[in-house]
Amino acid sequence: MAEERENCGLQHVAIIMDGNGRWAKKRFLPRNAGHAQGSRVVEQICEDAYNLGIKYLTIYAFSTENWTRPKEEVDALMDLLRKYMKTSLERSKKNNMRVRVIGDVSRLDADLQESIRELEQSSANNTGLFFQVAINYGGRDEILRAAKKLAQDAAKGKVSPEQLTQEQFYRYFDTADIPYPDLLIRTSGEKRLSNFLPWQLAYSEFYFTDVLWPDFNKKELQKAIAYYNSRDRRFGGI
Ligand code: IPE
Ligand code: IPE
Ligand code: MG
Repeated sequence: MAEERENCGLQHVAIIMDGNGRWAKKRFLPRNAGHAQGSRVVEQICEDAYNLGIKYLTIYAFSTENWTRPKEEVDALMDLLRKYMKTSLERSKKNNMRVRVIGDVSRLDADLQESIRELEQSSANNTGLFFQVAINYGGRDEILRAAKKLAQDAAKGKVSPEQLTQEQFYRYFDTADIPYPDLLIRTSGEKRLSNFLPWQLAYSEFYFTDVLWPDFNKKELQKAIAYYNSRDRRFGGI
């Protein structure tokens, strides 16, 4: 895989994979069929992203708000995530991928938490794609959890609130240690963040497409990258 890698000019891509339900509805299939197809697309996009030269990929798999869906759908999504953690154990070895789950995993079933720990630990030293999966993730929740940990450290005298910098605060985030996303992609035509990485995406480029997530592929990813490369990132300068 490594020898074919291109250099697409960006390091970190974040994706809100949306539209699984509508994809299934169009085909008169149950919503879960859309999620199953969506999860196959994730596996392919990880490979494509790495081959295009992307180092970090972060995808939104389940939000803190998605618990409000019908129980059967939540259960089906959790089962897909279970399966994903298991199959990724072997795959991450083969393709040298490092996997990290972001979000509050403490609310997930114990066996899923265990599979996540196992996958994270077994892939921790891999040097290929750094893949982050957001599960029970909410940006406001992440900021609040970071603030709580910070407050505890401040109470112990480990940090000084007066001298705190953005870099120090960011160390308390789930995504600490890796650069902010350069590009956010959202599929299915919605143009909102839905609580995804609000701190980290503060200066990212945003790309929206009507393509539904189960139809997303390497060509669509290349279109998003081409859009990114056409932008002038000024970061407040001129
Ligand atoms: C995105 O697809 C996947 C998750 C939120 C888990 P949706 O399930 O939101 O699909 P639509 O938006 O209903 O089409
Ligand atoms: C965002 O999609 C969450 C994930 C992709 C996991 P939703 O479909 O849940 O977002 P809303 O409800 O349209 O904002
Ligand atoms: Mg949706």
